[in-house]
Parts: sequence; C-alpha cells; structure tokens
Amino acid sequence: VSHHAPEESTAAHRARILVEALPYIRRFRGQIVVVKYGGNAMTDPALSQQFAEDVVLMHSVGIHVVVVHGGGPQIGDLLGRLGIKSEFRDGLRVTDAATLDVARMVLEGKVSSEIVSAINVHGPHAVGLSGADAGLIRAHPRHPELGFVGDVESVNPRIIERLLAEEFIPVISTIGADERGQAYNINADTVATAVAQAMRAEKLLYLTDVDGLLADVEDRSSLIRSITVPAVRAMMSSGALSGGMIPKAQACIDAVEAGVRSVHMINGTIPHVLLLELFTDEGVGTMITSGDAAADAMLGTAPSISEKANR
Ligand SMILES: Nc1ncnc2c1ncn2[C@@H]1O[C@H](COP(=O)(O)OP(=O)(O)OP(=O)(O)O)[C@@H](O)[C@H]1O
Ligand SMILES: [Mg+2]
Repeated sequence: VSHHAPEESTAAHRARILVEALPYIRRFRGQIVVVKYGGNAMTDPALSQQFAEDVVLMHSVGIHVVVVHGGGPQIGDLLGRLGIKSEFRDGLRVTDAATLDVARMVLEGKVSSEIVSAINVHGPHAVGLSGADAGLIRAHPRHPELGFVGDVESVNPRIIERLLAEEFIPVISTIGADERGQAYNINADTVATAVAQAMRAEKLLYLTDVDGLLADVEDRSSLIRSITVPAVRAMMSSGALSGGMIPKAQACIDAVEAGVRSVHMINGTIPHVLLLELFTDEGVGTMITSGDAAADAMLGTAPSISEKANR
C-alpha cells in the first residue's frame, strides 16, 4: 500500500543509521574517551539533556567515558551578580581568593552537580569529583600575576580507574590542590588533556560553542577540518587565536604530543554532536594530528587512511 512507503523508508533509514554505528561501537568498546564539556555549550537545558543521553549511550555500548567540564560563563554570571570584577589574560581568568571561592562554588556546587543529575536520570552512573578528591589533580600556581590560576603538576588517575572499573562515569570539576591543600582554578581544557594523558585515552573531544578551529574567528564558515600541530602553533603565533581558544589550542597540541590517538574540537551546541562524531560516517569539527607523517600513519589518524572520508 502506497501510504506505507514513507514509513518503510524511515524504518530502513533508522536501521541503516544503527548499522552504520556498528563498526564504531566495536572499535571504541572498552576504550577510554575523555569528553571536555565547555561551559558555553551547556547554557541550553535541552542541549544538556542531549549531552547526558549521548554520554549514557556511549557508556551503554561499553565506552569508558570521562567527563571534564568547564564553566567560564557560569562563573562569570555569579561574579557579575556578586559585583566582583574579572580580568582575563591570554584566555585565563585572573583569580584572587574571592574569585577562587566563586569558581569553586560554581564548578563543584552547580555545574558538576547539574551534569551528574542529568546523567543520572538514566540510571545511577555519574559521580562528580573535583581535582582535589583523592589527590586527582596536583596543581601549582601558573604565574604570580594570575593569582590562584593553577597548572597541572600531576594527575593521580587511581580514583578514575576505580570508578571506571565499577562502571561509573566520572564527572570532573577542574579545581586542583597543591601539597598543602591550597586550591587552584585550572583551565578545563588543560585538565582534560592531563587526564586523557594519564588515562592513556583513545580519544579526546573538546565540546565548545563554535564548530571547531576557525581560520578567521569572525567567519563561521572558515572551519578547519584537519590541522597539524605545527600549523596550530603557527596560528597561535600569528595571533589568529584569542580568548579561550588559546589554552584550548595548547591543550590540543599537548594531547597529540602525549600520544592521545584522536583529538577533536567539536561544536557542543549541535544536538547529539557526540553521537555524530563517534558513531556516524559524518565528520564534525576539527581534528588535530601530529603532522609527523610516520606518527600519524602509525596512529591511524592520517586523513588519507582515516575511515571518515571528509577528514
Ligand atoms: N580561531 C578561532 N577559532 C575558533 N574559536 C576561536 C578562535 N579564536 C578565538 N576563539 C574563541 O574561543 C571560544 C571558545 O573558548 P572558550 O574558552 O570561550 O569556551 P569553552 O572552552 O568551550 O568553555 P569553558 O571555558 O567554559 O570550558 C570561541 O567561542 C571563540 O569565540
Ligand atoms: Mg575555555
């Protein structure tokens, strides 16, 4: 009967999408994937729900997901409401004691708990933890002028390993502590890289509020689909990057150099972008590779041998 035809084609289409996911599911099963969830990509509640669904789906097919979250805009909001002024240098927020308190309250108290709640609607999976918990992130001050902005000194991945072994989804707030217990506010991209390195992650995805690295930040159509580390460095020194993209680009470089096989910046404001990136043939965002042909080929990330045609 003719009126069944569109229904059948929809069903066939749905089935095809699931089948298309199969090789990716098999490939990522049992692998560690670190997802950095940017504060700018979580301002819409519908998106946050979809993010949670994606993370739970990844978890359900056997991927060991670790979420590292930011919260720049949310920290900015509360600072504004409290009348505390903020200043940025090279994309990092100068952090005095009052700002550190606010960053901590927002990251651990609000953003983390909201992500955890959204995931746990689907089952008792997510556990929120800060870098201070179980000595996860040891930090030291980055620069005297930046106050309590920290740099990662070391990551003790034991708590994450244990949570993953028990099939939990760790959700990490990027507050670190030094040996005396002093807390530091650390850029979330930097922490995501350090965690991915310590966990020997297969994949590191930075979800942000733009499609990826743009050749010209004013031109949203100037997306760079694939770029090498030397080319990112060249962009950094030419001034093509500003604000939060400066630490993010550095974090990408560090991750690639630390041997994370697959490093991508993707647009977290696209519904279900994680599923698109992981489980479909569609290419999304910017992939960062070492640019060393031998290394890229060995890692299977060279665009020419990539399984994703447009990368
Ligand atoms: N060349 C560039 N390409 C893409 N984005 C750029 C570029 N230069 C600067 N940016 C800016 O970097 C921003 C992304 O970094 P930002 O730190 O603001 O977000 P985030 O890291 O996703 O969130 P959070 O800091 O809360 O974790 C973009 O919104 C964009 O305005
Ligand atoms: Mg940022």
